[in-house]
Amino acid sequence: MYANSRAVQSNQEGVHTDLEKVVVRHLANPWQAPFADHDREAFAQASQWRAKQGSERPLMLDSGCGTGRSSVHLARANPQALVIGADQSADRLTKAQRRFAPLPDNLLLLRSDCAGLWRLMVEAGWQLARHQILYPNPWPKSAHLKRRWHGHPVWPAVLALGGELELRSNWPIYLQEVQAALALSGHVASIEALPEGQEPVTDFEEKYQASGQVNWRLLVEL
Ligand SMILES: C[S@@+](CC[C@H](N)C(=O)[O-])C[C@H]1O[C@@H](n2cnc3c(N)ncnc32)[C@H](O)[C@@H]1O
Repeated sequence: MYANSRAVQSNQEGVHTDLEKVVVRHLANPWQAPFADHDREAFAQASQWRAKQGSERPLMLDSGCGTGRSSVHLARANPQALVIGADQSADRLTKAQRRFAPLPDNLLLLRSDCAGLWRLMVEAGWQLARHQILYPNPWPKSAHLKRRWHGHPVWPAVLALGGELELRSNWPIYLQEVQAALALSGHVASIEALPEGQEPVTDFEEKYQASGQVNWRLLVEL
């Protein structure tokens, strides 16, 4: 694990000035883009697994789980629940399968694009007990606001999935923007620094911690 990660550099000094406009537009206009075949295949895999494991069990989602460390942690801490760790990178998920074999029975690592997966879950009426998005790519250039999850047209699906939502980031502006986006829908989120020396639950968390950076957490009940 490298301890040489640089703090996020951005040309933004605070919440993006277009945030409200962008989020309000997405809240008012549901995203109609067609689903890709791979979205439907990933959702079908998740549906079959969930039906087999027991659809009545609480469902937790670790979106952008990378090498799966946080998904394994979540599944072990919540044996009564079903946990899906989703990531678009087959390479990272393969590493996870190797590193944490045998995976807990209540964990599915799923290759999928979260934007498609979230929308299909909402369409099927799925509700989450917990949703975590840990260290999403920050897209720190101000021109890239729409690539951040709260600036993306899929944002209303994150809200509709419900549950306890937690995001973590080493770039506090990302979380301040999520907080502001949530407030536009009447949700009150808290932000706090992770306690120093807390056992890291993801590889990125460990890397940032080892580099002396502060990791931040946003929590909200949707
Ligand atoms: C910065 S890494 C963080 C990984 C992990 N959560 C951690 O903290 O170690 C961001 C992860 O999000 C995944 N990702 C980015 N966009 C995605 C998308 N649209 N759908 C699914 N995964 C995505 C990437 O493949 C990557 O594994």
